[in-house]
Amino acid sequence: MIQTLQKEKDLVDKKIRTLFEEAGDLPMYHMLRYFMGYSNDLKTPSEGKHGKRTRSALLLLTANMYGGATSALDLAAAIELFHNFTLVHDDIVDNDEMRRGQETVWKLWGVPHAINSGDAQLLLTSRALLNAAYTDSVHGTKAAQTLNNHFLEVCEGQYLDFELTDKQVGDTSVTEERYFEMIRKKTAVLVGAATEAGGVAAECPEEDVSVLYEYGEALGMAYQVKDDLVSVWSNTEETGKRAYGDVYERKKTYPVLYTLEHGNREQLISLYTKKEELSDSEVGEVVQLFEEAGAKDATQRKLEEYVEQAKKCVTKLSIHDEDKEVLSSIVRKVVDTAGTLAKTAV
Ligand code: IPE
Ligand code: IPE
Ligand code: MG
Ligand code: MG
Repeated sequence: MIQTLQKEKDLVDKKIRTLFEEAGDLPMYHMLRYFMGYSNDLKTPSEGKHGKRTRSALLLLTANMYGGATSALDLAAAIELFHNFTLVHDDIVDNDEMRRGQETVWKLWGVPHAINSGDAQLLLTSRALLNAAYTDSVHGTKAAQTLNNHFLEVCEGQYLDFELTDKQVGDTSVTEERYFEMIRKKTAVLVGAATEAGGVAAECPEEDVSVLYEYGEALGMAYQVKDDLVSVWSNTEETGKRAYGDVYERKKTYPVLYTLEHGNREQLISLYTKKEELSDSEVGEVVQLFEEAGAKDATQRKLEEYVEQAKKCVTKLSIHDEDKEVLSSIVRKVVDTAGTLAKTAV
């Protein structure tokens, strides 16, 4: 199953490359090729750094478990294009200069080009969704609708991320509950969309649709908690991103919320409410506070809760036992790769 998937993943990339080619040869499309890993810079059409293709792989995997779907490749192209579109814009709003071990689109070509080329990629996402609907007017259309509805929730999640970032850490509205709702929308929903749309496109039984979504959502929660973890307890070599990026940006990630509750709250508030940017040594102090509070273990424990939740969903699906085994065992593999450079788990 997994080897077969590699071939299909290559076909998804072929579809995306074709969508870019059909769009034209404006340098703007080279920016998108660069970010997708199809070229190293504006001019060289060679292999560059690419993402893990987690969401498209999960979509194809679940579709295959229900006998496959003619619209699966178009849907997989759509979800991968959408995910990468969100990252192009996310790097602007998070002020991140590095992703996947290379410079981000805004850093290389400036914010206006990054906004505009991201918009173009979003429209190519719609084109891929429409292609899925043309390919299979009933189930392809239904799955495309599923994806489109969830895409909107991702934008809501990005909104909630900044709503939370803008709040002072001492504010009573900065709660774990809000944090989990924010990561559910910005990340988990899209993983749930992948597994749900795969099933819908392949005409899975009605009872499986919501379970597939719940499975993906729980997996996505663990995926984002891991992303938060490696922003603090990992390095650029592994993540391809700036070390402590979330701390410099004063994001309200799980280690922050846990430390506010269980650690030196006053000290953390005083650092996080500073007017000036945090210096390297202040970031070190914040990390020290996390460690004293036991935030690393607590974050790991949270992640495990979601891993277990995802695995539980698998038992409720009407697929073959060997496929259940695959869905169950990939939870750990997928979560292990979260927030790190491309080491494909699916
Ligand atoms: C990064 O997602 C953003 C998150 C939602 C955690 P991935 O880690 O799946 O990104 P790539 O596409 O593989 O680089
Ligand atoms: C990314 O969240 C989620 C979306 C882009 C929708 P983050 O900002 O936490 O992810 P990274 O760490 O930049 O990949
Ligand atoms: Mg970011
Ligand atoms: Mg972000």
